[in-house]
Amino acid sequence: MGDIDIDKAVGVLRAGGLVALPTETVYGLGADAEDPAAVARIFQTKGRPPNHPLIVHIGGAEHLADWAEDVPEAARLLAERFWPGPLTLVLRRGGRVPLDTTGGLETVALRVPDHPVALELLNAFGGGIAAPSANRFGSVSPTTADHVRAELGDGVDFVLDGGPCEVGVESTIVDATSESLSILRPGGVTREDLEQALGRPLDVPSTSEVRVPGQHPSHYAPNARVVLVDPDELVAETRRAHELGHRVGVFLPSSLADAPGTVRAHAVVSVPVSLDAYARGLYGYLRELDEKGCDLILASLPAQEGLGLAIANRLRRAAGPRPA
Ligand code: TXA
Ligand code: MG
Repeated sequence: MGDIDIDKAVGVLRAGGLVALPTETVYGLGADAEDPAAVARIFQTKGRPPNHPLIVHIGGAEHLADWAEDVPEAARLLAERFWPGPLTLVLRRGGRVPLDTTGGLETVALRVPDHPVALELLNAFGGGIAAPSANRFGSVSPTTADHVRAELGDGVDFVLDGGPCEVGVESTIVDATSESLSILRPGGVTREDLEQALGRPLDVPSTSEVRVPGQHPSHYAPNARVVLVDPDELVAETRRAHELGHRVGVFLPSSLADAPGTVRAHAVVSVPVSLDAYARGLYGYLRELDEKGCDLILASLPAQEGLGLAIANRLRRAAGPRPA
């Protein structure tokens, strides 16, 4: 771990500044959630449209009533079961949350991150910390302090370095504004775990995140173009693109593990068998292939169960049409 000067970070937040903080999912770009001017700096620094709502990070489930109103019983149950952890609950906005933080919405997204440095910061600061992922809008989320520095440089006043993120993909967002819950974004808590805790199935919109406001089709995207390929075609497509003169990076699944010798590519990432390890590594792999100068990344989707749902969602969005 690098610099974890909590007092300094609290001072920066109190002065209306921006602190990058580690969480178990990805690094966040944090500001005092109740300070509209500080929140405005988040949007500026990320290059993010101001109608795009932020997640407010709080220190524990016991603070829920300070930040949200009319919390349904099912939301309480999920908070108790999964916080601290990679679960974000969308609830009716409490009076102390400024509209600047929620992108003008009457709802607020709340979560308690499961990282000792983030929890220490939240407890020392005492308030809520609004924090999107600490990347430029639309690009790959950072999972190390170095990624944050490379993305945002001087745009952030202080970077708390809590080491590499354990989960590696963002939190699962659940719309909990009513008792009938639905998943808005798959993430670090699996659908199966949520359904088991609730004892009933959950709604997952087929095009994930359609109900999340202010989204571009392409998100979580590296510089290289990402193209999704059927696993049966992956080796042949990689060869074809290589022969066409592309600098191809390929995500090679373990089922094709004997193929490395036969794969003709500029760079190969061996996708781990374990979905935990795949999620943890995902954004780092995309950055690595960019750094190696790839102009095209070919990948196949994992089976959409467990963390595979979140991984597939991020790969689809990385492969989505880019804004002109
Ligand atoms: O794991 C995470 O969730 C990370 C870490 C830093 O906590 N944060 C994160 O934040 O991924 P961000 O801003 O990159 O993504 C937050 C998502 C956005 O898609 C936003 O639209 C959605 O949460 N969101 C926030 N408030 C919302 C609300 N009131 N209703 C619906 N969606 C909301
Ligand atoms: Mg983000």
